[in-house]
Amino acid sequence: MSARVLLVGIGGLGPWVLERLVRSDAVGGVVAADVDGARAAAVAGGTRLGTTLERRPVAVEATALDLMDADAVARLLQEREIDLIVQAGSLLPVQRWWSIAALPDAGPRLQRAGLGPWLALQLLLPLSLARAIERCGWQGTLLNLSYPDAVNAVIARTTAVTPAGAGNVSLLAAAVRQAVAEQEGCRPDEVEVALSTHYAHVRWAMGGGERPRRHGVLRVLRDGADLTDRLDPFELLRRGGALIPWGEASHPLTAASVVRHVELLLGERAGAEHMPGPCGLVGGYPVRVGRDGVVVDPPPGTTVDALRVVQEETQQEDGIAAIAADGTVTFTDEAAEQMRSLFGAASAELHPDDVEEQARRLLAALDGFGTGGAATAPLRNSTNRK
Ligand SMILES: NC(=O)c1ccc[n+]([C@@H]2O[C@H](COP(=O)([O-])OP(=O)(O)OC[C@H]3O[C@@H](n4cnc5c(N)ncnc54)[C@H](O)[C@@H]3O)[C@@H](O)[C@H]2O)c1
Repeated sequence: MSARVLLVGIGGLGPWVLERLVRSDAVGGVVAADVDGARAAAVAGGTRLGTTLERRPVAVEATALDLMDADAVARLLQEREIDLIVQAGSLLPVQRWWSIAALPDAGPRLQRAGLGPWLALQLLLPLSLARAIERCGWQGTLLNLSYPDAVNAVIARTTAVTPAGAGNVSLLAAAVRQAVAEQEGCRPDEVEVALSTHYAHVRWAMGGGERPRRHGVLRVLRDGADLTDRLDPFELLRRGGALIPWGEASHPLTAASVVRHVELLLGERAGAEHMPGPCGLVGGYPVRVGRDGVVVDPPPGTTVDALRVVQEETQQEDGIAAIAADGTVTFTDEAAEQMRSLFGAASAELHPDDVEEQARRLLAALDGFGTGGAATAPLRNSTNRK
């Protein structure tokens, strides 16, 4: 059966995902949606023309959709008979963020704070989408790309939806396989790895922020032979991370991870992969993915629970102290201090009902940040809430 996929968020990453989805035999139709309907229409128009040129029998539509509008989401899911949603909408102005991250003074402080304190900007749209899904009772799969290492845990704890994820640990696992193959002088398909890594590992392996205390390399096999003990795990992550391109250049790679997961989620046979934020868990894990869902699949010698504990510890290195059972997120003291030194104020925690308000304050902080390495307009009306 060819499935109908809704792809929301046709920004920087979305068009790459769209190009890959329409070339997958598992996908019979894609609806490309964005709050900026004109942009979605322009991008989908080009993609549709490409499929006409290649004589691919796939339907490509575009529509304006505001993920904050639960009724519009419900209508679209029902009218277009959507089987799976890929969520790539975001409020984080990536270019603005990276321009601050590149400043010699502010950049290291931004990296020390981690991605965690920016959670509200990544969480608002997928959380709003999950609430809309819960309300209308849609039964398909939500694949969320926005910081799934943390966002999926909040969504699973506050709604009836348990999203899948893609990218992050999935990219690092492929990169480590390739790095091992280069070292061993063999082909990447002869190498199997099992990693349990958080986004904090991916960021460090790619050259940003501090080295996490735990490495998360669980097993490395070449043609079934176990190489794990003779490899330096941190060195391996670093060499893998160096293979992952920075910024927009990584979009084709992330799109490859998305399509791999989409095909497993829709396909007849389950397969082994790596996924950030599976089953409502914090961080990334080895998983088995299939039409019946996602199962965390640790190698012999460890358990899901042991991995979960390590990932919850590692998220602190991305600025998140804890995600409570009710979805309340507490930021680390270090993250709050770095954010305060950069923007004049910081929140100590994020409650699921305050996501929109905190997102608005973070956007104002980014807008007010001068390029000279200091905030020109500290956050207004913000309190350091407990
Ligand atoms: N998992 C991974 O490995 C990975 C890799 C790259 C990017 N990402 C994530 O993917 C997401 C998208 O990244 P990007 O670089 O394309 O961001 P972007 O800012 O370029 O695009 C975001 C899109 O969301 C749209 N949008 C904003 N508000 C909306 C709303 N209310 N309803 C519908 N659409 C709305 C915007 O119009 C924009 O087109 C981000 O969360 C980013 O962190 C994940």
